[in-house]
Order: sequence, then C-alpha cells, then structure tokens
Amino acid sequence: MKTQVGIIGAGPAGLMLSHLLHLEGIESVILENRSREEIEGTIRAGVLEQGTVDLLNATGVGERMMREGHLHHGIELQYNGIRHRVNMHELTDGKSIMVYPQHEVIKDLVAARLEAGAEIYFSVSDVTLHDVDSDSPKIRFKHDGGEEELSCDFIAGCDGFHGPSRKMIPDAIREEKQQIYPFSWLGILAETPIANPELIYSNHDRGFALISTRTPEIQRHYIQVDPSDDIANWSDDRIWTELKARVETKDGWKLPDGPIIQKNIVSMRSFVCEPMQYGRLFIAGDAAHIVPPTGAKGLNLAMSDVQVLKRGIETFYQTGSTDMLNRYSEIALRRIWKAQRFSSWMTTTLHRNFSHSSFERSIQLSELEYVTSSRAALTSLSENYIGLPLEWESPKSLLV
Ligand code: FAD
Ligand code: DHB
Repeated sequence: MKTQVGIIGAGPAGLMLSHLLHLEGIESVILENRSREEIEGTIRAGVLEQGTVDLLNATGVGERMMREGHLHHGIELQYNGIRHRVNMHELTDGKSIMVYPQHEVIKDLVAARLEAGAEIYFSVSDVTLHDVDSDSPKIRFKHDGGEEELSCDFIAGCDGFHGPSRKMIPDAIREEKQQIYPFSWLGILAETPIANPELIYSNHDRGFALISTRTPEIQRHYIQVDPSDDIANWSDDRIWTELKARVETKDGWKLPDGPIIQKNIVSMRSFVCEPMQYGRLFIAGDAAHIVPPTGAKGLNLAMSDVQVLKRGIETFYQTGSTDMLNRYSEIALRRIWKAQRFSSWMTTTLHRNFSHSSFERSIQLSELEYVTSSRAALTSLSENYIGLPLEWESPKSLLV
C-alpha cells in the first residue's frame, strides 16, 4: 500500500490532519488500533476554544456542533464559597467557548472523512514504524489477520500519549520535560438537569471541583481526589456529598443530583517532548504533550499542532521545500508552552495542595482575590482560556 501521509491514530489530531490534507488534495491513510464504536464512545474533553470552533466551521464539519453545542460567554470562579463571573466575551472582544464533547467531534470528523472516501483502518494491531529518517518511511501493521505495509512520504504520529511514535525519536535527541501533580480528577456523567448556565471552577478547602455540562439531560462534573484513590471507594452518595460541599455557595445555590451513569479517575501531568520531528516523522497532539485538564487545552492543542503540520506538508507538495516542515516543532512548541504555562497556573491556583503550609494556602487565595478584582488579570485569564492565536513567527516584544 502507498499513500502520501501515513497517520497513526484516529483521535482529534489524526482525524483533523487527514481532513485538512484532503481539503488541499493531499492523500492520507489513518491507522487506528481501537474500533470505530470505541473511539466514538470514549468520554473525554468538553471545551472547544474559539479557534477550534472556527476551524471546524471553516472546514465544513461544524454544523452539528453549532446546533447541539453550548456556546458560553464566560466561566465562574469560586473560592471562599462565593462566585465570581468572568465575562470572557467582553474581555476578549467578543470571543467565546463551545461546550461540545470530544466524542461528538470525533463522530463528525469520522463521518466527513468516510463520506469523502478516506481510508481509515480501525482495530489494527502491532503498528511499527520503519525508515523514518529516509525519504520513504513505512508503517507495518496487522489488520483482519493479515500483515500490511504502508509506504508513505511522511508519517504523522497522532497516537496519543501511549502510542509508539514518540519513542521513534532517538533518546539522544529527544528531551522529555514533565511535572506530575499530587492530584487526580474523579469525573462523572450524571442524569440531572443543567446545574448552571456556565462552567464553575471551584477552589475549596476540601479540594477542587468543576461543574460542566453535556446535554440538557446529562451533566459532567469533576472533583479533585488523591492520586492513590480508587473509584471503588466512591459510592454515588459520597460523590454527591463531596461535590455539593465544594460548589454550593454561601448565598444558597444548590447542586441538583441524580443517577450517576459513568465515573472514573484520571491522573494529571504536564509533559512536553522536544523536538516533535525526527526525519520524516512528525508527532502531534497528546503523542507530543500532555496538559493537566484544568485549562481545557489538550484537544485544542492537538488542533493547533495539525494546522502547523498541514501547512508544512502542503508547502512541500507545492514547492518541494521542507523549510516549513522543519520549522514545525519550533512553531508548534511556542503555542504548546504557553498552553502548558496556563494549564499549570490554573491547576496550581485552583486545586488544594494538602502538603502546602498555611502561608502557601493564603497566597493561593490571595491570587484568586487578585485575579477576580483586576481587569488586567481577568483579561489575561480570558485570552488564555479562549485560546491564544497561532504564531507563525516569533512574537515581537511590546517593551519599549
Ligand atoms: P488521542 O485522543 O489520545 O488519540 C490518539 C488515538 O491513537 C487514539 O484513538 C488511540 O486509540 C490511537 N492509538 C494509540 N496507540 C495506537 C497504536 N499503537 N496504533 C494505532 N492507533 C493507536 N482537552 C481539551 O481541549 N478540552 C477539555 O475540556 C479537555 N478535558 C479533558 C478531560 C479529561 C477527563 C481528559 C482525560 C482529557 C481532557 N482533554 C481536554 C484532553 C483531550 O482529551 C486530549 O488532549 C485529546 O484527546 C488529544 O487528542 P489526540 O488526537 O492527540 O490523542
Ligand atoms: C471539561 C473538561 C475540562 O478539562 C475543563 O477544564 C472544563 C470542562 C468537560 O469535560 O466538560
């Protein structure tokens, strides 16, 4: 088999890259080791930045999102039992976020790709990469009991944090930078009415809590738990008691409860692999970096990475030049590090670190008091949350 771009992974990064390349007339094949039902049913992200919404709309895959998603103009920050609304729409000259689940984005992209006649191989196994530092890299894999080989001009490793692509960058040139946090998130899906018109990020003495939504009937909420905790320790009653304790307010706001239809615990880390290229292999999305979910950046970063990568590949086929491709890492990493900075700030500002001293706890609450009382700080929070622009060139200093 032969194609121009071999893509490993049908997550947001792989599917969007394939879609963008198709719109430029560039052929790709996607190899995914899970089934279509599995990727379309896995509950993960919920918040799309303005830039991601614009990208889905501009490329013809945003119609259902515009119909079924929830457009939010702001978020609420809570600490000391009091809510503070952040009017992001006003602070960012009219931008907003969309709450639309990742698996719905996946469904829309898979449908668009298949409708355009794309080759997506689901449920493949034993994916291995070969000759990535040559002009004709290859991917070998098993499908339907047979062994296959895909020759391509480029390989895009969009295979998430545990995929094989990143490890193909030799140890001698691969640097992995990471930070592990002393918290995890217990996430639930519950059959209850919408709790609040906007997301609530709550800093509480008992730990962080987040109120989000999915549909008018199903809600998504999270609470901070200890990384060593086990989901078996969390009865539905215990989860609701803890959530309520952390988000109910002094002025009497109550959280509606109901049957919990799914619950799980996810750990948190910040991770960046540099560079994101080796020869003709390019890694994108969670394969290259992980952010803690507090800033809602992971899926959005996957979307910005593949826009940079697509431009490099497109330039190569138009001009024969690899200059733009060779700048992929540098351009993508600039935005990635800013999202890392913001995600780390949101995480450390909103979670309760139980090993902190009373001094550090007071500094944290003072940080929240400063942010919610300063227009400059609120503007900074908003422009980061809504999503920073892609910078094709190094930013010019505004200092004079
Ligand atoms: P993935 O979605 O991981 O896709 C990689 C694909 O590659 C998978 O389908 C996998 O099956 C496949 N694969 C792996 N190994 C192989 C192999 N060997 N062969 C073939 N295929 C392979 N992000 C946001 O932007 N906003 C949010 O609100 C947000 N909330 C989150 C909440 C939670 C609880 C979690 C866990 C994450 C959240 N994220 C959020 C992060 C977001 O879900 C990820 O960053 C996003 O899925 C990354 O997309 P990706 O395509 O890079 O990787
Ligand atoms: C959701 C996830 C996040 O990580 C976040 O910061 C906000 C909302 C969600 O799943 O709805």
